[in-house]
Formats: sequence, C-alpha cells, structure tokens
Amino acid sequence: MTYIQVTGGKKLYGDIEVQGSKNAVLPILAASVLHSGVTTIHHCPDISDVQCMIRILDSIGCNVKKEGSTVIVDASQLNNYRIPDEYVARMRSSIILLGPLLGRQHFVTISYPGGCTIGARPVDLHVKGLKRLNAEIIEANDLLTCMATKLLGSEIKLDFPSVGATENILLAAVLAEGTTIISNAAKEPEIEELCEFLICMGAKIEGVGTETIVIQGVDSLHDCEYTVKADRIVTGTYMAAVAATGGKVILRGAVETYLEEVIEVINRMGCITQSSPEGIVVTQKSKPKAYDLLRTRPYPGFPTDLQSPVMAALTIAKGNSILIENIFEARYKVVKDLVKMGANIEVEGKIAIIRGVASLHGASVKAHELRGGAALVIAGMIAKGTTDIHSIEYILRGYEDICRDLQTLGATINYIEET
Ligand code: EPZ
Repeated sequence: MTYIQVTGGKKLYGDIEVQGSKNAVLPILAASVLHSGVTTIHHCPDISDVQCMIRILDSIGCNVKKEGSTVIVDASQLNNYRIPDEYVARMRSSIILLGPLLGRQHFVTISYPGGCTIGARPVDLHVKGLKRLNAEIIEANDLLTCMATKLLGSEIKLDFPSVGATENILLAAVLAEGTTIISNAAKEPEIEELCEFLICMGAKIEGVGTETIVIQGVDSLHDCEYTVKADRIVTGTYMAAVAATGGKVILRGAVETYLEEVIEVINRMGCITQSSPEGIVVTQKSKPKAYDLLRTRPYPGFPTDLQSPVMAALTIAKGNSILIENIFEARYKVVKDLVKMGANIEVEGKIAIIRGVASLHGASVKAHELRGGAALVIAGMIAKGTTDIHSIEYILRGYEDICRDLQTLGATINYIEET
C-alpha cells in the first residue's frame, strides 16, 4: 500500500493551478445521460471519484473518452437500468444517477450508496422529491427501484436544503412534463454550475443560485461543451494549509465569490487574502490566530467540507477555538489522529473545543474519510518531525495530487510505497 510521508516545518511559497471541482463535475457527468448525444466537459479533476463515475457511465452503455482533463460522453446508446453495486458502494454521488436515468429511460435500480462515513447520509429527501414528480420508488433488499411512465412537474419544498436531493430533483425535472418548482433548494455553487451546464444542454431553468429553482420541462436536449470551475473546497484546503504553515501562495483559477465565508475565517486566522485576475493570493506572516466560534452551515455559510482542514490549522493557534459541525453527525473522526500528534481537542456531540498548543509532533496516522485525510496532511506540515498518513485512498477521492501541489509550494511530502 502507498502512504503519504510529510516532514513538518516548511512554509508554503509559490503558485498552483486549482483542479476542477469534484462536487460540480460528478452531477454534471451524471447529467450527461439526459441527452441522447454528446457532451464535452473540460477541466475535470483526475480523481478516483471521477474515474468511478466514468465506469458507471460505461456500465450503462455510454461511450466515454478522456483526453487529458476533458471527458467526452456519448450517451446515445444507453443499455442498462442497473448501476453495478461495486461502484455504488464506493461513492455517495452514484445516487445522483437516479434523477437523470429516470428522466431519460424512466427506470433505474441502484443499491444504497456508500462513500465517506461522515454520517448516516440517508436518501429520504431524494426519494420524497422524486415521488412528487410521479416516480414510483420501491425500497427493498437494500435496493432502490425507481420507475415512472411519465415524470410530471410539481411543487417540491425540501425539508432541508440537501445538495444531492436538489440535484436529483433538478435532473429528473429537466425532461418532465410541465413545470417543477423546488423551494428551500440548496444554493451551493455546484448547484449553480449544474444549472449552467443543463441550460447549455437546452434545459429551461430559472432561479439559478437561489433557494427557489423553477424548471420548465423540455422534450429533448442537445450537444454541449462546458468547462468546470476551480474546486472551492480544494482552494479552501490550501488556504487553511497556508494559514497553518505561514507563507504566500497564489491559487490560480480560484473564484473568490464562492469563498466569501471561507475568506472571512482565513483572514480572522491572521491571513491576508487578495483577489487577482489569475486567482487568489493568500499570505500568512505569523502563527494562526484562534477562531472563537465557527459553525458549519449550508451555503453561503461556512462549508462543512472545510471544517477538518481548518481544525488542523487551529491546533497550533494562539488561543482556544470552538467548532460546531451542524451538517454531518460523524465529521470528527480525524480528532483522534490529531490528538495522537499532540493536539488538544475535546469533542462533545456537535461541538469541538480546540486549545492551541505550541506544536504538534509527527506520528503514524490514518485517514478515515476525504477531508479528514486532507486535515492530517496539514497537521503533518506543521508538526515537528515526520508524519506517515495511511489509507490515502480517501484523499485521492477528492485531491488530484496533494503531494504534487504541496511539493510545488515547498513542502517536504511524498508518496511512499509500503515495503
Ligand atoms: C454533498 O453531499 C457533497 N458531496 C458533500 O461533499 C458536502 O459535504 C455536502 O453536499 C454538504 O455540502 C457531493 O457533492 C458529491 P447533503 P450530499 O444531501 O449531497 C442530510 C466532500 O467532502 N440528508 O446536502 O450527500 C445528510 O445526512 C463531500 O466533498 C438527509 O437527511 O449532502 C446531511 O446531514 C462530503 N436526507 C445533510 O442532509 C437526504 O435525503 C446534508 O447532506 C439527504 C441528505
């Protein structure tokens, strides 16, 4: 097995190009099955979740080609209603195929999705919304079997602004008969990107980026070409890294408008962030400052996906910080590994109290999920000595090449083959 070895003590300087957004490209790839033709998607990140989604598309009859960071999907010959369990177990986003496959072929069977163990991650809001569109969904033997003679537009009020449920309902509504109104919809930038992509394919959508999305069903879609924006969570991860190590980094392609809340937090931790035509410049001249009370919230609140990376930086802050994780009920798995590295963190339910320590020390630790794994990389860069991070397959799900990126910025970090 391969693990990551990082030796702490280096500040980060230089510039890197931020990869395309994982959480935008996955629903966009799923959306490509809505059209019996060709869609071309540029700036796709080379991560295992994208490779998994491509295999799923292949398994249902799509012809998928990858040319560098461009993925070309020809979905004219769909020939399978059953998404293979091996892929579904690997990735939560596989559930996002429910909507488009219902819209395209009116039938789909999928097992309950796997993915990061950051919580129970039920799909009740997905099921409730699709049923409102006249889908019949049978949940039996750990399978979701969905069918609809005809999808009919409807009004749907989400009990919670779930990103995935918003995406699934949106994708099913595009080819439904009539108008669908989704209220209390998620407003994450990835939903906005999905809407832009669907409009590029010929969908009729209003209220993009708001909590009320109106979709006018159309009979068919057409070929389109789309370029995915920079990944805001990868951008925020590297901002947290600079906040922790100190230095000055240009994050090329980063979009400031999607990161306002994150930039506010990073600045309060002592950084200076400047937006420039080529991206965002982040500078940290001292040790990070503590953050008195940080809550994770649906967008535009502080994103749950950056809670662990920021926590890692706060372990050596001057002062105490309090984090409240409001989105997922099991997103503190990284704490025990940070404590093993010398962090002083106490967890009580949703609340984590981080008392800043002078320094961390290297240790052998293990990633338990994607963003917690990235947090361990940040902790390793500020620890005295060397840290070995195992189970890095979780990190590779969302970060194209975290060692390449951080080496470019001066970190001592490598992949090591376990003998
Ligand atoms: C998306 O997950 C992202 N994944 C997550 O990023 C992100 O953390 C999350 O949105 C919140 O922003 C992708 O886009 C591939 P939700 P999703 O549905 O859609 C509950 C990463 O690190 N809920 O908004 O699964 C759920 O349990 C990943 O890149 C229900 O109760 O998130 C959670 O508590 C991790 N019933 C909350 O809503 C449902 O039917 C938010 O989940 C659906 C969700």
